[in-house]
Amino acid sequence: MREVLLPQEMIRTGDLILVNAQFPFRETGTDRFLLPASFGGNRVLLDGRVARLLEKLVLDLGGGETLCPVSGWRSQEEQETIYTRSLQEHGQHFTEQYVALPGHSEHQTGFAVDLGLRSETIDFLRPDFPYEGICQKFREQSPFRGFIQRYPQGKENITGIAHEPWHFRYVGEPHGEIMAAKHLTLEEYHQFLRQFPTGKRYYLYRGKGLRAYLSYQRANPSGPTLWRPRQDTLYYSVSGDNQEGFLFTEWCREGGKIS
Ligand code: DAL
Ligand code: ZN
Repeated sequence: MREVLLPQEMIRTGDLILVNAQFPFRETGTDRFLLPASFGGNRVLLDGRVARLLEKLVLDLGGGETLCPVSGWRSQEEQETIYTRSLQEHGQHFTEQYVALPGHSEHQTGFAVDLGLRSETIDFLRPDFPYEGICQKFREQSPFRGFIQRYPQGKENITGIAHEPWHFRYVGEPHGEIMAAKHLTLEEYHQFLRQFPTGKRYYLYRGKGLRAYLSYQRANPSGPTLWRPRQDTLYYSVSGDNQEGFLFTEWCREGGKIS
């Protein structure tokens, strides 16, 4: 039987890590692989893979001239500058609603991007990204390609951030699609997946001619975590939750018995 050993520090890495006021982003010490995402007359840096996927998505949706990336990856220093400047210019109430504390911003992961409608003047902190036209098309289609609107209206108490129509986060496939269908924030999605302990219960996703079995496993607190993929797994991905465990996505062939 195949076995995989997951080092403890892997909890902090992966497409599904939760970064919010409670759980800071912790650099792993390895060099970041960043690339520019460039369209609509602007470019920002993002995690290299996410940059390519975002560019392709925007082009496929026909938004290459009308949408533009406003803010992507931010260093700790950059987030500190943005936070301090916002405090000075807009005050504490505004800043707490719209700017994450340095160390706690998803932008530091390279998986988050603020998008705007291309125009002469763009509000850097709150770009225009309306619920209509190409922006709404992006909002509706992007979950199928692994991007979600991260701070929806009505979930402010859960995310700790005000409604941000412009902020999107890469979580990967099939997670974006499941989260959108169930109207779950990333905080809620993590809770949801904890109901499925690896090897005992799985959340089954069916689509794209494949099955994905999703599950969660708490990390071993005193050393590497041993994980056993399913027998029928073709390929898998593992993400830390940035809390205390791992989330597994195992893709299997469609057909045959569901177990
Ligand atoms: N605007 C989001 C919350 C950030 O600063 O990361
Ligand atoms: Zn943002």
